[in-house]
Amino acid sequence: MELNSRDQGQGCKLALCSLTLVLWGVFGARALDNGLARTPTMGWLHWERFTCNLDCEEEPDSCISEQLFMQMAELMVSDGWKDAGYEYLCIDDCWMAPERDSQDRLQADPERFPSGIHHLANYVHSKGLKLGIYADVGYKTCAGFPGSFEHYDIDAQTFADWGVDLLKFDGCFIDNIQNLEDGYKNMSLALNKTGRSIVYSCEWPLYMMPFQKPNYTSVRQYCNHWRNFDDVYDSWKSINTILDWTSSNQEKIVDFAGPGGWNDPDMLVIGNFGLSWDQQITQMALWAIMAAPLFMSNDLRQISSQAKALLQDKNVIAINQDPLGKQGYCLRKVNGHKFEVWERPLSDLAWAVAVRNLQEIGGPSSYTMSVTSLGRGVACNPGCFITQLLPLKLELGFYGWTSTLKTRINPTGTVLLRLEQKRA
Ligand SMILES: *[C@@H]1O[C@H](CO)[C@@H](O)[C@H](O)[C@H]1NC(C)=O
Ligand SMILES: *[C@@H]1O[C@H](CO)[C@@H](O)[C@H](O)[C@H]1NC(C)=O
Ligand SMILES: *[C@@H]1O[C@H](CO)[C@@H](O)[C@H](O)[C@H]1NC(C)=O
Repeated sequence: MELNSRDQGQGCKLALCSLTLVLWGVFGARALDNGLARTPTMGWLHWERFTCNLDCEEEPDSCISEQLFMQMAELMVSDGWKDAGYEYLCIDDCWMAPERDSQDRLQADPERFPSGIHHLANYVHSKGLKLGIYADVGYKTCAGFPGSFEHYDIDAQTFADWGVDLLKFDGCFIDNIQNLEDGYKNMSLALNKTGRSIVYSCEWPLYMMPFQKPNYTSVRQYCNHWRNFDDVYDSWKSINTILDWTSSNQEKIVDFAGPGGWNDPDMLVIGNFGLSWDQQITQMALWAIMAAPLFMSNDLRQISSQAKALLQDKNVIAINQDPLGKQGYCLRKVNGHKFEVWERPLSDLAWAVAVRNLQEIGGPSSYTMSVTSLGRGVACNPGCFITQLLPLKLELGFYGWTSTLKTRINPTGTVLLRLEQKRA
């Protein structure tokens, strides 16, 4: 990257264009009043990496069992994850026994969770972490275990009694959209009634979308975060599809994110098998720009030091967790859709900017932009200090209002920048 001050005229035009692009509705939606998720929730969730593996005989180390969660809890503390901010250790589907108990309560599978969830919660709390669990608004969970329909109060109370701190509430097997909407609301009220602080993670908009436009004012009032789109897979295609959906729908969703309630583009798959290094950087950078909950789904027992450093990058996490709590957005696609520029307003008049190279052919490519085109024309007025955070941390120095910034980005990779009015 280099400082360069050609190109002033174009910079001004672009600044105007970005101003018209990003003035959406005025934000006024009230967040769920439980005092939680003031910044996006951070933790670990088993689904993408461990799915519904029930076979503890053949695969004792990767089946869904209390042993898996106890091992992850230990590593979250010993390997710096907790210190980096990853606090919620979360169970997804497939933890339950196939039937409720004699008092109609959900129960954990007795073979795979012989000590029970209450015991696991105590263990997780003893490590200074919090425990998340999974249930479903309908008759069954997505994997066919008992659903919470007509059991919202008793299930919420069971989770509270066990000491659970987060509920991921899925949306399978519900017979109509009225029940879907009311079910999500009723569970939110049931959690509140327990008096325990429990983060409420919803999939209401995702399941509503094919039938009816979700009412995000209402979603935000009942949920701490909400999924809008398909499950993430361990593939570049999946990450790309999620980013495309988000940028295509940003006018509908970005303004609803803020302290207490967040759009959830699903888990981080960094440290697994499907993404190249540059693609892992793209996921981390864009999840920071999107103010996304950061739930890793990977195997903390076997993770490269490179992936670990990326997931624990303090400066990138600071963007994700920025207290202003405004979600970023795609500012423009440029050069025949070869590059995408995203930006996010941060506290203290700072901005984060991510430039993606969308090409899947060739080598590193350069994209030069006028700094006036960034941050609604004010990020670098009259000047700014720019730090590159990804792929490597580099102090790029001072940029005056009329200067241009040149980035060089690997195919499918991203350069993440922080623009500040004052040097920190
Ligand atoms: C329940 O809701 C009330 C009113 O919105 C709120 O003041 C209270 O803190 C909530 N309690 C819990 C445990 O979330
Ligand atoms: C939600 O609660 C209301 C009020 O108690 C009740 O009438 C309705 O049937 C409930 N709906 C669902 C899906 O639980
Ligand atoms: C959306 O929900 C809010 C809050 O519950 C409500 O006031 C508003 O009327 C709803 N909007 C629509 C279009 O139904």
